[in-house]
Amino acid sequence: MLQATYFLASDHAGVGHKSYLLPVLKNRYPSCGFFDLGPQETLSVDYPHYAHQVVEKIRCSSASSYGILICGTGIGMSIAANRFPGIRAALCHDEVTATFAKKHNDANVLCLGARILTPEKMSSLIFLWMESSFEGGRHNQRLEMLETLADCRSSN
Ligand code: RB5
Repeated sequence: MLQATYFLASDHAGVGHKSYLLPVLKNRYPSCGFFDLGPQETLSVDYPHYAHQVVEKIRCSSASSYGILICGTGIGMSIAANRFPGIRAALCHDEVTATFAKKHNDANVLCLGARILTPEKMSSLIFLWMESSFEGGRHNQRLEMLETLADCRSSN
């Protein structure tokens, strides 16, 4: 049985999808926690703020916690989330990307586009991502490299 915590956020473009998803996810995974970090309204907002809210929750949690970020295309959210150490945010549009995002990349944040996917399709991709498992093995060293390859700006 899945036991994990999921933090959801969007920008204005994803508010409707997020509202659809929350009860669907809570109903399908009663042993998981789902937390809506906003926004609640469709007034124009800036996606980097909401990506940051979710990323900080994940980075500050000791338990297994994940993020689901929704904007118009998912692109802005994925760019924003991937700026932070320890975050592996995957922009997924279909079954293959949603499954392999977990199996090969151990993505701890799923980014989705509300202008690309219907709410129903989005929920099915989230199910696949949640229910897939990281394969480990040769993929472990690649994930380590994401954190350890040197940044030329920090060597001075
Ligand atoms: C907002 O109009 C739009 O730019 C945003 O939702 C997202 O698609 C950015 O990547």
